[in-house]
Amino acid sequence: KYNPYGRILRKSVSAAVVKLGDAMKAAGKGTLIVQSGYRSYYSQKSILAAKIRSIGKTNALKLVAKPGYSEHQTGLAVDFAAKGVSTLQTSFAKTKAGIWLAENAYQYGFVLRYPKGKTEITGYSFEPWHFRYVGVDLATAMHDQGIQTLEEM
Ligand code: DAL
Ligand code: ZN
Repeated sequence: KYNPYGRILRKSVSAAVVKLGDAMKAAGKGTLIVQSGYRSYYSQKSILAAKIRSIGKTNALKLVAKPGYSEHQTGLAVDFAAKGVSTLQTSFAKTKAGIWLAENAYQYGFVLRYPKGKTEITGYSFEPWHFRYVGVDLATAMHDQGIQTLEEM
């Protein structure tokens, strides 16, 4: 469910994705799509190489982790899209799906991992599509304490 590309995630994460998507649908914010999930070392390596070719090394490293350092390799990170909505670009933050996810994903255990204005702390540019599953308890504690990044928790 919500996984048209058959992406791989940890079982606990895929169960949370289904709850998240059901809630998003019930709220009238569209149909959730898992754009990417688990990536191997080698797929991370080729994604980074392609990004370096297109925008150069300095900029690429703000958007794509080095192989061995991506949360996607853990099966705990998810890039989200919604049906008919473009993602993997900052404009996702302004869509009704992106806004709803940013405000509500914590209730299902997800944190927006690379928030706006936190590049100095996370090392990455704003990625409104990239969420990391940390479980409901931690995600809720961060939300309630107003702590946006895992680095600051
Ligand atoms: N886009 C994130 C930083 C990654 O490549 O893991
Ligand atoms: Zn991602």
